[in-house]
Amino acid sequence: MKPVILDVDTGLDDACALLLAAQHPDLDLKAVTCVGGNVGLDEVVVNTLTVLEAAGREDVPVARGAALPLLQPVRSAPHVHGVDGLGDIDWPKSTRTPVGAHAVEVLRDNLREAARTGELITLIPLAPMTNIALLLRTYPEAAAGLREIVFMGGAAGIGNATASAEFNIWTDPEAAAIVLSTAGRLGVGVTMYGLDVFYDVPITLDQARSLGGSPSADLARRLIEKRSELYKADAASIGDGGAVCAVIDPSGLTTEPYPLHVELSGSWSRGRTIVDTRDWSGDLTSDPYGPPPPVVQVATAVDGPRYTNLWLNTVQ
Ligand code: BDR
Ligand code: CA
Repeated sequence: MKPVILDVDTGLDDACALLLAAQHPDLDLKAVTCVGGNVGLDEVVVNTLTVLEAAGREDVPVARGAALPLLQPVRSAPHVHGVDGLGDIDWPKSTRTPVGAHAVEVLRDNLREAARTGELITLIPLAPMTNIALLLRTYPEAAAGLREIVFMGGAAGIGNATASAEFNIWTDPEAAAIVLSTAGRLGVGVTMYGLDVFYDVPITLDQARSLGGSPSADLARRLIEKRSELYKADAASIGDGGAVCAVIDPSGLTTEPYPLHVELSGSWSRGRTIVDTRDWSGDLTSDPYGPPPPVVQVATAVDGPRYTNLWLNTVQ
């Protein structure tokens, strides 16, 4: 089993990711850390506990993390996730509480243990990367416990929060820049599961309506129905869930290595991930005009039907 930790701002599609990560037999979900993003931190924590309960995984530690981005106010997304972050679908909410430790401490402890045992952890950030930046600034040695980082965020093409920027990176660009540069410096592999593939793992309403018979399957159906309604479509992508699919079944994802910058200024481009697709002629660190940027595996295509089946078969 592959040890993983999800960092989430649950969120309808974070919920799709949690249902998968909590139940797939190839993953060992060590913990889930929460950050403010799609909704405020309090709602994120309740939603995360609620989804894990539906998956029958009350044993997974859930930790509160940063409520706010490093430098700017949080800007939630009720138009995408509903006011409560779970689409206001009236699903009974968990009354459990998260663990007492802060998300950064939970990440640190798990990663230190992983470094000690050699069972390295794949970190899957599906939200603004505030917690991860705080971790790497506070306890950089914990990175020794990382196998790799596979994050949902960014775009080589068009953004969603703005024409330039994807929501997770736009919400905390400084955090993303810290994570990418630190990972690059420490030699931690990073995969960007960005908007270029985010919409390409659809579940049709017919497929969703075939789900049922367990709390997990019922919730999965409701999530897709709600997401389809919000997008005014007869199908909805599992969004963040695709990044978990990519960890379970990497051969369904096509990636290419590119230098990657996060735009930290700019009137219209703050938060953009600038994927440097120039011809590097085999030497990705040979920029004559600046220090070598981190090189990231950028997802350029996904086998949608394969990941659709993976998700349906697991959450059912
Ligand atoms: C990302 O932002 C959120 O709305 C989703 O949960 C996803 O992580 C997409 O831009
Ligand atoms: Ca998310």
